[in-house]
Amino acid sequence: MEKFERLLVTAALPYANGYIHLGHIAGAYLPADIYVRFKRLCKEDVIFISGSDEHGTAIEISAMKEKVTPKEIIDKFHYANKEAFAGLGISFDIYSRTSNPIHHKTSQDFFLNLYDKDLLVQKSEKQLYSEKDKRFLADRFVEGTCPICGYEEARGDQCENCGSNLSPLELINPKSKISGDTPVVKESVNFFFPLEKFQPQLVEWIKTKKNWKSNVKNYCEGWFKTGLKDRAITRDLDWGVKIPVKGFEGKVIYVWFEAPIGYISATKELFIKKGTPEMWEKYWCDDKTKLVHFIGKDNIIFHAIVFPAMLMAHGGYILADNVPANEFLNLDGGKLSKSKGHGILVKDVVKEYNPDVIRYTIAANMPENKDSDFTWEDLQNKNNNELAAILGNFINRTVVFAKTKFDNKIPNSKVGAKPEVFDYIVNQKKVIEDCLDNYRFRDGLNEIMNIARAANKYFNDSEPWKVIKSDVDTCGEIIYNCLEICHTLAIAIFPVLPFTSERILRILNTDNSKIEWDNIGKYCLEQGKELGEDVILFPQIELQAAKEEEVKEEDNLITIDDFKKVQLRTAVVIQAEKVEKSKKLLKLRVKCGNKEKQIIAGIAEFYTPEEILNKNIVIVDNLKPAKLMGLESQGMLLAAKADGKLKIITADGEFSDGADVS
Ligand code: MF3
Ligand code: ZN
Repeated sequence: MEKFERLLVTAALPYANGYIHLGHIAGAYLPADIYVRFKRLCKEDVIFISGSDEHGTAIEISAMKEKVTPKEIIDKFHYANKEAFAGLGISFDIYSRTSNPIHHKTSQDFFLNLYDKDLLVQKSEKQLYSEKDKRFLADRFVEGTCPICGYEEARGDQCENCGSNLSPLELINPKSKISGDTPVVKESVNFFFPLEKFQPQLVEWIKTKKNWKSNVKNYCEGWFKTGLKDRAITRDLDWGVKIPVKGFEGKVIYVWFEAPIGYISATKELFIKKGTPEMWEKYWCDDKTKLVHFIGKDNIIFHAIVFPAMLMAHGGYILADNVPANEFLNLDGGKLSKSKGHGILVKDVVKEYNPDVIRYTIAANMPENKDSDFTWEDLQNKNNNELAAILGNFINRTVVFAKTKFDNKIPNSKVGAKPEVFDYIVNQKKVIEDCLDNYRFRDGLNEIMNIARAANKYFNDSEPWKVIKSDVDTCGEIIYNCLEICHTLAIAIFPVLPFTSERILRILNTDNSKIEWDNIGKYCLEQGKELGEDVILFPQIELQAAKEEEVKEEDNLITIDDFKKVQLRTAVVIQAEKVEKSKKLLKLRVKCGNKEKQIIAGIAEFYTPEEILNKNIVIVDNLKPAKLMGLESQGMLLAAKADGKLKIITADGEFSDGADVS
């Protein structure tokens, strides 16, 4: 493992206020698990850390909605998610939780370390305060209209609709999530982390990361270009890790400051359990440790920029070697988002399907470089046409042949010549290593399946059913080799299909003592030994599930009358200028038929005023006027965002402005 002696692998700590869904699995947990299982097979020293993220306003709000305490919420989801992960074979060494005392202590010590070095800045800032609720309304405790896209249910920290990061003060018509009260602005002192100061160091560090995925690098470069800003790391909230400084009672450390420290706390906890408490330091402070963070793309800023800066500020810690973030997995086109609730829940699917079929389908569609789709039809297809037809088929035809023609025993190899297919397999081993080492799991899986494809070809080309008629020894040789390939497959598929790997061993009636990566392509079986029971590994899946889904989709359909409520019209931009003190907003004057309108649009990061001038655009004409940065916006222009770029929708050809769009 290059210059490293051990591996520390983390997967994002999911919030304990909702059930884990397939989007989470595709984003972080399955790639991490494949990687870790592969490394364990290679006999590397690896630990795999995750746990529940149990603070933050999302949890307090869930508790409020369900009229229970935050503790009840986190207990419920912590155990449910832990079980769901186990059901899918996600093999954490520890699944901890940030409500544990050891985490509170570790985060407070971390905070104090920076505080004692005078690195933290105290600033009094305007915050939203509700007189009615008698409290400050941080982050998700406020909802209002997004100043960028006009979405009316944007949260104080982020707009779910357009993905923009927001602060509560930017919201238009802010309302308390607790009581609906309209908050007032009040000053409050909070601590800030001097992120701006760390930009040069971060830039230099990321420059050395030649093998980071381009989506992650580009994202970071985007942040550097805008310039990093200092970040508030405390909040006016009750639920969370208390600030260990006098005068700050009633405030907590911001969840995104303490949650990543949870990786450290969980490592401490793991080694306390193992009875070697001081070992955690080897993993976090010795530069012979390779640290890898598996996350979804929405967490890049925290793992590639903020947390490394925190570790730099603290000193003594290693930094991530890689942050292989994935994009999103869409469910038939719609984003699998926990907060919107339309994900497919792991706890439900593991009850209905072989977990390996789910793992396979997700791994084969892993959103490594761009968003990808999950469909039930694809799951059925992958099960029937790949897992059953290629992998299952090879195991089954081999074992059935041995059962019927060789007395259900592993035939003796009397001829003793290793066929060429093993050369191919040994070469595949290297190809697969290269994929998995470089976080290319889709390719890796395909190359693993290529072994099974080659195995079927070897079976077909050798024609044991013909050979047996004239030469039993040669036929025994062929079947012996096929059984050895079954064993090799049990190793090769283990990172992706751990349950199937185990079942193959049972079919072969052998234990897992030879299950190590270096045994791929080697002879491992005991000749003459009786085989186990042959089972069908991948029974056919019918399309029932897919049909159920069609029905569900209808719930999302609207009638033509719903659509007609939205008056879309063509318009032409006749004036455009920047809005002072805003990076995101442009002030546009548009002509739409016989009237002119002012539209404040959140497109300044993507269009200069000159670029948008004279463009034929499409606007929502009957949108309620709203104020943005004190300016009235009398409509909204249509735009689409993809790959982080925003493009306005323009009208094709010569159009008169003011035309209805339908
Ligand atoms: N809870 C966060 C989320 O679900 C992830 C936290 S990752 C950690 O998006 F680094 F903070 F632990
Ligand atoms: Zn928005």
